[in-house]
Formats: sequence, structure tokens, C-alpha cells
Amino acid sequence: MSHDTTTGWPKDFVWGVSTSSYQIEGAAQEDGRAPSIWDTRCRLGKIANGDSGDVACDHYHRYREDVALMKELGIDAYRFSVAWPRVLPKGKGAVNFKGLEFYDRLIDELLANDIEPWLCLYHWDLPQALHDIGGWAVRDSVGWFEDYATLLARRYGDRVKKWITFNEFSVFTLFGYAIDWSAPGITDRDTHLKAIHHVNLAHGAAVDVIRAHVPGAVIGAVHNRQAVWPEHGKEENKHAAALLDEHWNRAFPDPQLLGYYPPMLGQAIEPYVQAGDMARICRPLDFFGLNHYGPIFAKVDDNPNSTWGFAWGEAPADADKSELGWAIFPDAFRDELIDLTHRYKLPIYVTENGCGGGDTVDENGQVIDNHRVTYLKRYTASMHEAIEKGADVRGYFVWSLLDNFEWGSGYGPRFGLVHVDYETQKRTKKASFDWYANLIKSTHGK
Ligand code: FCB
Repeated sequence: MSHDTTTGWPKDFVWGVSTSSYQIEGAAQEDGRAPSIWDTRCRLGKIANGDSGDVACDHYHRYREDVALMKELGIDAYRFSVAWPRVLPKGKGAVNFKGLEFYDRLIDELLANDIEPWLCLYHWDLPQALHDIGGWAVRDSVGWFEDYATLLARRYGDRVKKWITFNEFSVFTLFGYAIDWSAPGITDRDTHLKAIHHVNLAHGAAVDVIRAHVPGAVIGAVHNRQAVWPEHGKEENKHAAALLDEHWNRAFPDPQLLGYYPPMLGQAIEPYVQAGDMARICRPLDFFGLNHYGPIFAKVDDNPNSTWGFAWGEAPADADKSELGWAIFPDAFRDELIDLTHRYKLPIYVTENGCGGGDTVDENGQVIDNHRVTYLKRYTASMHEAIEKGADVRGYFVWSLLDNFEWGSGYGPRFGLVHVDYETQKRTKKASFDWYANLIKSTHGK
């Protein structure tokens, strides 16, 4: 890949930001949107502080103001997700045209501002109506997702060329079907294994229909991949780390791109795999979407009846950590980018990277989030180093444009380049916004 010698970054490198539907849109009961499994989880009181995505950043009504902020930032691309229950309230069958029209307006506004839309079909908000008839645990889910993907491809394919099937398969299946940290909050081994396999099949089916309906489509999937290390580097935790590594880093990209499940998981999942499934899952893709934050730690599960054989470990006490306690280790990012290039042989877009904290507006009305500027500087420098060492990285999206609903943690953790006052919906650009705008300007001359 050719480098622009004046900036040091690859030519046509894509700079962007990422968001997701349930985390920013709000308007949860408006214009025919029906509940997702996340609305239900909020109703059940399982979110910190009793928070919910009912209003969130009210992006549904304020998308113009938000696109104007993106324009000011100077980004080339915006990755967002469509809320499945907004366009198909029951998940299948009757279409909600008011829901479709919202994304028409958003896409048109982006294009009018010279920002390329990157559309993700699924960022965790499964229609509750589909969960009620089995959700990802039943094989019918593959057909439901295929139909949903067809609807979006036909509706937006004239204007949207960058398509992502799912966001972070491993995170939502593990946290939602094995550990009760995410919706739908099931903790059952068989349900978890079935969900993994059906989601993989749904991915493959969606790739085919997007390819069929969108001329010139550029299609990828987004995976959260992090180094998995044994807690305290202890020998006894090594097997747990290897298992978590299979679940976290390989359960989806390996079958999707290499055509097989990793060995230990492969054995467990065998009963649910039918003849021809691997060929349906392993469809040609155009890029690898990587979400990366920092290493995770595993330890042996003390419970003698342990279902998964691993438990969540702690980062070393002396590790560099974000205000949220997430480990910061930019070298692991560099190594991941290099490894990915060799392992899956696809161009890489970093579809999420960012840093959470408790940012506040100071007495001068400013948000000086130096912790985030430092994090982003270090991580983009590591990405640059990886590129120099041969990693095929074509773009980078910061998580996130706005502070937003951080799943089970509610509105406490803030990840935005823009601060949101949830009482007034006032947006305030943080110091990191200016830093990122300058980086983009210096690399693009935009
Ligand atoms: C990722 C999710 C995203 C956001 C960030 C902080 O795992 O994809 O929605 O919550 O973490």
C-alpha cells in the first residue's frame, strides 16, 4: 500500500467515528419502533442507576446537529447501526416505513456533508418479538436476519456501499447467553453454543444477500479482539486464557474466514452443525473490522461445576488503566494489527477504539479530557507503527462521537469526543475533539 510521504499515513486512509442505534437514538417509543431485548433489560432494572436508552442522546431528533459536528471534525466516514425493531417492529413481516425513513434522512444528510455512511446491521438490539419466539437460540433466526438484511440492502444500497453484518459477535453472545452481563441475560451453555452457530450462519446469509442486491458493496464484519492473558501470568490460569481466547477472539472470525471453529469450541458445538454449514458461514469478505480497547485477563474458574472452564480475571495492579479500570497497552494493539494481517489476509479497518472516563464540564464551560487525548495519541502511534511493520490498516474509527448509553453501566462512563448533558441534550466539544480534528487535518489536508 502506498504511503503519502508528506503525512506518513497510507494514501486514502479513512478517519471516522462509530456509534450504535440503541446507545444514541432515543425515541424508543416513537414512530412505530417496538422494544428490543435491551429495552426489556432496562425495564428489568438491570442497568446501573436504573438508566435506559429511552432518550439517550436524542439523536433521532438531533441527527442534523450531530452530522454538523462530524463535518466540523472532518471525518471521512461514519459508522452507525440500524435498530432492527425500528424498521421491522416484530422483527419480521410488516415494515415500519417511518423507521426506514429516519435512516434515509440520516444517510442523505451524511452524503450531503461528504461523509460516507458505513452501515452496521446489528449492534445488539434484537427485536424483543423475535427473542420471544426463540431469538438466536433457534435456527429460524438465520432466515429472519437474511430477510432483514435484504430489506436494508434494497432500501439503502443505492447510497450505502460499506456494509457490516454484526458488531462484536463474541461479546454479545458471551455476555448475553453465557454470563448475565448483557441482554437477553441467559446463562445456559447449550443456548450459548446454539447462538454462536446461528449468528455465524446469519452473518453468511447476510453477506450473500448484500452482495446480490448492492452493486459495488464492500462488506465486512466487526470483531472485538484483544490479547487474552492469564491472570497474574500464572501457569494455572493458562488453560482458562486459551479457552477465553477461543471464545473471544476466534469463535467467529475463524469459521467466517478460515472455515473452521477453533478446536475446543469446535468439539462442543459439533451437535449443532449441519452438513454444508461451514460453506454457508465462510463467505468472501472485503475487510476485517477490528474493535480494540485493551488486553483482557482470564483465570481458572474455582467453581467445581464450572460451565465454561474460565472466569474473568483482573488486570495487574500496576498496569496502566483508564478511568474505568480498562487496561491500556498500545503495544498489544500494534501486535494485534500485525497478527491479523497475517492470519486473515484482509484489509483492516479499526472500527472502534477509544477511552472511557467520567468527563465533566469545567467552570469555563470546557471539557479537558487529557486522559483520552493521551490514550488516542498512544493508540494511533501504535497503529502507525503496525502499518510501518506491514499491517494492512486502511482506516480508523474512534468510539465514539458522543457520550452515550454504555450498556449495563448506563450513562456513567463517557466515551465521546463530544460531551452530552443528558438533562439538556447540550453538546460540548471536548479537547479530544480538537485533537482528532487536527490529526485528520494534518493527514488529509482537509
Ligand atoms: C464496545 C461496543 C460499543 C461500546 C464500546 C465502549 O464493546 O461495541 O457499543 O459500548 O465497547
